[in-house]
Amino acid sequence: MKRKINNKLFSIWNMICINLNFKISTFKSKFSLRFQGCKVGNYFKSNGKCYFKAYKSNSIKIGNNVSLIAGHRANRVGLRNPVLLETLDDGIIKIGNHSGGSAVVISSRSNVSIGEHVNIGGNVQIFDHDFHPLNASLRRKNKPEDITSKPVVIEDDVFIGTNAIILKGVHIGARSIIGAGAVVSLKNIPPDSIVVGNPAKMIGSTNK
Ligand SMILES: CC(C)(COP(=O)(O)OP(=O)(O)OC[C@H]1O[C@@H](n2cnc3c(N)ncnc32)[C@H](O)[C@@H]1OP(=O)(O)O)[C@@H](O)C(=O)NCCC(=O)NCCS
Repeated sequence: MKRKINNKLFSIWNMICINLNFKISTFKSKFSLRFQGCKVGNYFKSNGKCYFKAYKSNSIKIGNNVSLIAGHRANRVGLRNPVLLETLDDGIIKIGNHSGGSAVVISSRSNVSIGEHVNIGGNVQIFDHDFHPLNASLRRKNKPEDITSKPVVIEDDVFIGTNAIILKGVHIGARSIIGAGAVVSLKNIPPDSIVVGNPAKMIGSTNK
């Protein structure tokens, strides 16, 4: 009986913490994005530590009803880092309506376009560039113009499993599923595909 009451009290305390965290984090996230000249849609919400760095104004575009979570109380999949969204040079990050991610890291020098109703699992990383030049002598100079970048497109209703890494030039067709831990460099993933592993390969279709 006492245990039941304690559990109930803990659940109430947990809900208070989660709701408070949503309010504080959402306020900070909206402030940071708007201060950097970026658009945030209606009903945007965030939880936990979320960092945004927009190189140019309006280079991070967040649709309506988007949620970004980095708080351990709000997602118990084992989040390892804050939400980090960064644009560099001409990079653009667009997150469509009703999409969401937990501890997601997105870095763009070109274009990362995420559709609507996309579910991005915990600790997923999405990069449209390599961060360093691929040629060793150019890497010593490490100039931004020598870094390869290719747009990433994630169409509507895609589900990306926890700890997946999506690399430059990848286009994921609508309704596809990317398995947990996949390292995706496969360039054209047709709609309704199931893709798993490292390097990620198609293992089937969601229309069995
Ligand atoms: C990809 C996934 C959806 C497949 O689920 P499923 O259709 O039920 O597939 P099964 O479990 O029957 O596995 C089918 C095959 O794929 C393999 N497989 C499944 N998931 C895999 C993964 N993430 N990586 C590598 N191989 C995987 C299985 O080993 C199996 O191989 P086999 O046919 O040689 O035995 C699921 O395994 C997955 O990764 N879900 C993501 C969960 C997640 O991260 N949620 C988000 C939390 S924030």
